Amino acid sequence: MVCLGNICRSPLAEGILTSMVDPMKGIVDSAGTAAYHVGKPPDPRSIAVAREHGIDISQQRCRTFTRADFEAFDVIYAMDKSNFSNMLVMATDESQRQKLKLLLNEVNLGFTEVSDPYHGDTEDFEAVFKTINSACTAIAEKIN
Ligand code: 4NP
Repeated sequence: MVCLGNICRSPLAEGILTSMVDPMKGIVDSAGTAAYHVGKPPDPRSIAVAREHGIDISQQRCRTFTRADFEAFDVIYAMDKSNFSNMLVMATDESQRQKLKLLLNEVNLGFTEVSDPYHGDTEDFEAVFKTINSACTAIAEKIN
């Protein structure tokens, strides 16, 4: 699960999908394409909205997406098109490029990007939670 900062959207996506998928089926992780917040916990607003839905993401720590992630993971979900292109230019072959997907292409919500809530308010974080939750529900149904 990849966004820009790895403090708002992708930590939610990691927490939500982890809560839905049998741990024996694989590992869910998250990262950011930018390094502004490396080592920090998720944004307090993401921690709060996750907690309201019974998911604890407070132990996550921000890291950057690296080329090694193309080998470590089978599927790499970008929250928006900018994150997607940031990773696309890092891919070194077609098999890596094919691992990249837009998270919202897993569901038909009428829009394809999880918009960045960083400059938004609590309601924006709640909306992001619901959007990511829908996509993760669809992914979990395929995996489990
Ligand atoms: P995220 O949100 O990509 O969902 O983690 C952002 C967090 C921080 C910044 C941008 C987006 N930032 O510019 O610091």
